[in-house]
Amino acid sequence: MTQQRFPAFSRLLHWLMAVMILAMLFIGIGMMSSLADYHWLLSIHRPLGIAILALVAVRLINRLVDPPPPLPDGMPGYMRLAAHASHLLLYALMFAVPLVGWAMLSAARYPIILYGTLQLPPILPQNDMVYAALRGAHTVLALTLFAVFLVHLAAALAHGFVFRDGVFGSMASLRPGNGRREREVAAVASDPAQ
Ligand code: HEM
Ligand code: HEM
Repeated sequence: MTQQRFPAFSRLLHWLMAVMILAMLFIGIGMMSSLADYHWLLSIHRPLGIAILALVAVRLINRLVDPPPPLPDGMPGYMRLAAHASHLLLYALMFAVPLVGWAMLSAARYPIILYGTLQLPPILPQNDMVYAALRGAHTVLALTLFAVFLVHLAAALAHGFVFRDGVFGSMASLRPGNGRREREVAAVASDPAQ
């Protein structure tokens, strides 16, 4: 039977954002560990982080308009729950990490420069205590995102190589569309009443 896939645009967003987020985690750590590279890495970190924030909003709207395929029928309840909970957590962190980054620079009254003279407005009033709290939160949330990503990666590989239930292919496929139309055509073709 033809396997259902995530819609092509959802897959594009997933893989584009996976690359961007992983790059951001390493850029963030690189910034903190090299004084010489701090400024140019930060000049990439800010706009890339804001682009992730914009893309996750697009992705959420796209998910509501064009929903993902259902999980395989035989999948146990605990696995469904784990999949839904981890996806919810990933979405929450994809919003929270860049928002906290923007908010912490706002609280410190640092300019939030995207490119050249293009700047974002502050989203919080100046407050050193709030800056200190958000600065710590940015690190903790970014490391949590990395930890949840590692669990997500392990689960994706288990689906691909151990369970072989089509879940990995539903996101990793390069074929256009979501496969629903192909399934309908195949069902009609195999219907003996036709
Ligand atoms: C998905 C998006 C983001 C990820 C994964 C991320 C990740 C990180 C990481 C891992 C660090 C190093 C933390 C440490 O070692 O203590 C960091 C630092 C930092 N991030 Fe982000 N970040 C993101 C978005 C943003 C955004 C949107 C902004 C601001 C507009 C921002 C501003 C900063 C700043 C200013 C620092 C360094 C702070 C300092 O020098 O003390 N980040 N980020
Ligand atoms: C930071 C990187 C990543 C993030 C934030 C992320 C996030 C997500 C999210 C939120 C979903 C739920 C579907 C949706 O609504 O978009 C998802 C699904 C999926 N991801 Fe990722 N992902 C990342 C990297 C990866 C990698 C590296 C792989 C594979 C090697 C992968 C494989 C999958 C698969 C197979 C699904 C479908 C799972 C299902 O339907 O239950 N992801 N991902």
